[in-house]
Amino acid sequence: MITERERWTSRIGLILAMAGNAVGLGNFLRFPVQAAQNGGGAFMIPYFIAFFLLAIPLMWVEWSIGRHGGKFGHGSMPGMLDSMWKSPIAKYLGVLGLWVSTIVMIYYTYIESWTLGFAYFSLTGEYFGMDNLTNMESFLKSYQGAGEGYFSSILTAYIFLLITIAANLFILYKGISKGIEWFAKFAMPTLIFFGIVLLIYVFTVGVPDPINFPDRSVWNGFAFIWNPDFSLLSDSKIWLAASGQVFFTLSVGMGTLHAYASYLRESDDLALSGLSTASINEFVEVILGGSIAIPIAVAFFGLTTATAIAMGGSFNLGFVSMSVIFQQIPFGSLIGFLWFFLLFFAGITSSVAMAQPVISFLKEQFKFSQKKAVTFVGIGLFVCIHFVIFFLKFGFLDEMDYWAGTFALVAVALIEVVVFAWIYGMDKGWAELTKGSDIKVPRFFYYIIKYVTPTYLIGIMAFWTWDSAIPTLMMKGVPAENVPYLWGARLMMLTIFGLLVFMVYRGWKMNDHKYEHFNDNIKAKK
Ligand code: TRP
Ligand code: TRP
Repeated sequence: MITERERWTSRIGLILAMAGNAVGLGNFLRFPVQAAQNGGGAFMIPYFIAFFLLAIPLMWVEWSIGRHGGKFGHGSMPGMLDSMWKSPIAKYLGVLGLWVSTIVMIYYTYIESWTLGFAYFSLTGEYFGMDNLTNMESFLKSYQGAGEGYFSSILTAYIFLLITIAANLFILYKGISKGIEWFAKFAMPTLIFFGIVLLIYVFTVGVPDPINFPDRSVWNGFAFIWNPDFSLLSDSKIWLAASGQVFFTLSVGMGTLHAYASYLRESDDLALSGLSTASINEFVEVILGGSIAIPIAVAFFGLTTATAIAMGGSFNLGFVSMSVIFQQIPFGSLIGFLWFFLLFFAGITSSVAMAQPVISFLKEQFKFSQKKAVTFVGIGLFVCIHFVIFFLKFGFLDEMDYWAGTFALVAVALIEVVVFAWIYGMDKGWAELTKGSDIKVPRFFYYIIKYVTPTYLIGIMAFWTWDSAIPTLMMKGVPAENVPYLWGARLMMLTIFGLLVFMVYRGWKMNDHKYEHFNDNIKAKK
C-alpha cells in the first residue's frame, strides 16, 4: 500500500530546505563559543577532520537511508530501518531517531521564540536602557521567567511562544513543497543576506573608546577566535568538542535529514545535493558565524570580559552581550533586529525539520491527514513545552538537551551507520548512495563509512559515557532543589519514548509492512 508521496519541486528548493534544516542557532552561537574555548584556529583541525570522517559520511548515509525509505512510503526512522533490516527489532531501534527529533523540537521551539521576542524588542527599543551586561542578563532572565527583573511575568515570552508555534504549524500544515520548501526559498537567502550585512557592519563599526582601550578592536576579536593554540591538539577534549559541534551543526543523528530525503525521487542525485547543503552550512558557520558575535564582543568589552561571556555559553553571547552592544552603535535598533531575526529564521527552518519525522510517522502509520497530524503534534508540543517554560530555572531544558540533543545523537548515528554498512550491506549501501549521483563519490568513502565512521563513533560514545553520561545520570553537582525537576524531565522523555514504541507496535500491526519491504528488488525495479 504505497500512496504517492509529496516531492520537492526543485533542486534549489531541496538544497535550501536541507540547508535550513542544518543552519540553526548553532552556527551563530554555538560554533564561535566552541572555537574560542577549544584552541581557536587549532580547533579547525579536529573540526575539519571530524567533518570529513564523520559528518560528510553520516550525512550521505542519512540521505541514502531517507531516499530508500521514501521509496516504501516511510518518512521516519522506524520504517526506514525496517526497510533495510529484516528483523523485528529494526523498527524499535528506529524509535530512538524519532524520539530525538521530537524531544529536541520541544525545547528548541522555546529558544527560537526568544529570538522572535528580541527581534521585536530591538525594533521597539524595549531593552534600551539595560546598558550593561548585568542588567541585560536580568532582563533576559526575567523574560524567560527564570529570575526577577524587567518583566514581572512570563506573559510576554508566552505570547511570542504562541506566535512561534503558530508559525511552525502553519508551515508544517502546508506540507513539504508548499510549506517547507516555499519558506526555505525565502528565509535562507534572507538569512544569508542579513548575515553578510552584519559581517560588513562588524568590520566597519567603530569602537567606543580607542584611546583608553586600544586593544579593544574587532581585529583582536578575530585573533581571539582564530589564533591557533596547537598545544591543545594533544588534548582529547578539543577533539570531542569538535566532533560534537560538527554533529550538531549538520543536524545528523536526529532523523531529520532522512525525513527530508524521503521526499526525493528514487533517481534523484543525493551526493552532490548533500555536499552543496553541507557547504552552505559551513559557509554560514565558519565565515558568518565566526565573524559576528565574538569579534564584536571583544571590540566592545575587551578580551577578558568577552572570554567570560563566551564561557557563560551561547545565550549569554547571543542575547546578553549582543543586546548591550546594539545600544551603543549607530542604527543599533535595526542591526539588533537583523541579528535576532536572522536567528529566528535559522531557528524556524530547523524546528520545522524536527517536527517532520513525527508528522510523516502519523500520516504513514495511522493514515492521519496532514491537518490531523499537524494538530496532533501541535497539541503535544503545546502541552510539553509548558514544563520547559515553568521549570527552565531548574535545568529542565538542559537535561533534555543533554540526553536527547547531545548523547542520543551519537547513539542514533552509530545505529544507522551499522545498519547501513554492516546489515543492509556496504555494497548495496554504496549502490544506493551513488545511484543517480551527479558527482563521482571518491571510493575511499566506501571504506570510511564502513570502518572509520563506526569506530570513531564508538570511541566518542565510550568516552562520553564515562566522562559525562554517568555523572549526568547520577546528577553529580546538581543542586538538591533541582533534582525532582530533572527526574520530571526524564519521566517526560521516557513517557514520550514509551508512547512512540507503542505507536510503532500498533502501526506495524495495522499495516503489514512485511510484504512491501522484503520484495525490495521487485519494488526497486518498478
Ligand atoms: N543544526 C542545528 C543548528 O546548527 C541544530 C540541530 C541539530 C538541528 N539537530 C537538528 C536542527 C535537527 C534541525 C534538525 O543549530
Ligand atoms: N548546548 C548549547 C551550548 O553549548 C546550548 C543549547 C542548548 C543550544 N540548546 C540549544 C544552543 C539549541 C543552540 C541551539 O551552548
